[in-house]
Amino acid sequence: MLTGRADEVVGIDNLNAYYDIQLKKDRLATFGGQMRFVQMDICDAPAMDALFARERFDAVVSLAAQVGVRHSFEAPAAYFHTNVDGLRQVLDCCRRYAVRHLVFASSSSVYGNARQVPFREDMPLGEPLSVYAGTKQQAEALAASYARLYGMTVTALRYFSVYGPWGRPDMAPMLFARSIAQGCPLQLYGEGKMLRDFTFIDDIARGTVAVLDKGLAPEGGIRVPAAGTEGVFKIYNIGAGRPVSLPDFIALLEEALGRKAVIRYLPMQEGDAYRTWADTSLLERETGFRPQVSLEEGVARFVRWFQSRSNS
Ligand SMILES: NC(=O)c1ccc[n+]([C@@H]2O[C@H](COP(=O)([O-])OP(=O)(O)OC[C@H]3O[C@@H](n4cnc5c(N)ncnc54)[C@H](O)[C@@H]3O)[C@@H](O)[C@H]2O)c1
Repeated sequence: MLTGRADEVVGIDNLNAYYDIQLKKDRLATFGGQMRFVQMDICDAPAMDALFARERFDAVVSLAAQVGVRHSFEAPAAYFHTNVDGLRQVLDCCRRYAVRHLVFASSSSVYGNARQVPFREDMPLGEPLSVYAGTKQQAEALAASYARLYGMTVTALRYFSVYGPWGRPDMAPMLFARSIAQGCPLQLYGEGKMLRDFTFIDDIARGTVAVLDKGLAPEGGIRVPAAGTEGVFKIYNIGAGRPVSLPDFIALLEEALGRKAVIRYLPMQEGDAYRTWADTSLLERETGFRPQVSLEEGVARFVRWFQSRSNS
């Protein structure tokens, strides 16, 4: 999206082995020469400092994270390392090199099992249900304190269940699609009662860029960061705003794949929220952005990509 409008973009990723590295490399290859890519760890302080000194970024979008709710019970240190200490490195570099706007990925998981729906940014947060969710809550708190202390402009985006082409292989849409396509039993936790606010990747990308641009526009009130000046810390949900039950999501996949699922119903798993549902009115009011891709269209586009990748 940024490369498409001729912004100069540098991408960094340590290409960790949490899931298939080839998928990450193939995804990167889709950028062709439009983005300069540097393989590095955001926790590598000297490398980060050299990068920021060389590039003098106007804006930074920080998406790097150790992801996966379940894995966070097995390897909590990796989550703290990247999601909290790694974000601190990014914040420090943005502060030292006067980056005008830092946008970073938080998560709907910060709401836990909040009773009130839809989830609003100003609600008190629920108890984090996983280490992953706990690190995202900590990341938000850290970013808020940097913005205030150092006069920075920082925005946290709470993404809701992202799906679409090039998505993560450990997430439900890909796991479900694979089970259906291969005719294997599909494990459905929560006895099929969970609701998710699935959000198509293009809407996530468009919403992120809308927030990024608003922060960089002069009327957005963004100034060169400096200690002693007032910081700006904002949080926006980016979700479709339409929770769907997992059986309904599976039915759309079945239709697009032309095959029936063999569903094995299982109890709730530790760490999962019963439902997610984004209130996106703040995002719409302040940026004019509204999700555009319906679930039906998004699932059809995801399945087209899934089938082309399976056949390649
Ligand atoms: N996918 C979702 O549904 C979802 C929902 C809410 C929030 N998010 C957040 O959005 C962001 C992107 O998530 P994603 O689903 O695309 O996951 P992803 O794993 O595909 O992307 C994260 C990338 O970060 C890289 N990375 C991890 N640790 C790093 C480090 N120390 N230094 C440099 N790179 C590192 C990984 O190699 C990976 O390519 C994450 O911050 C995630 O927490 C995602």
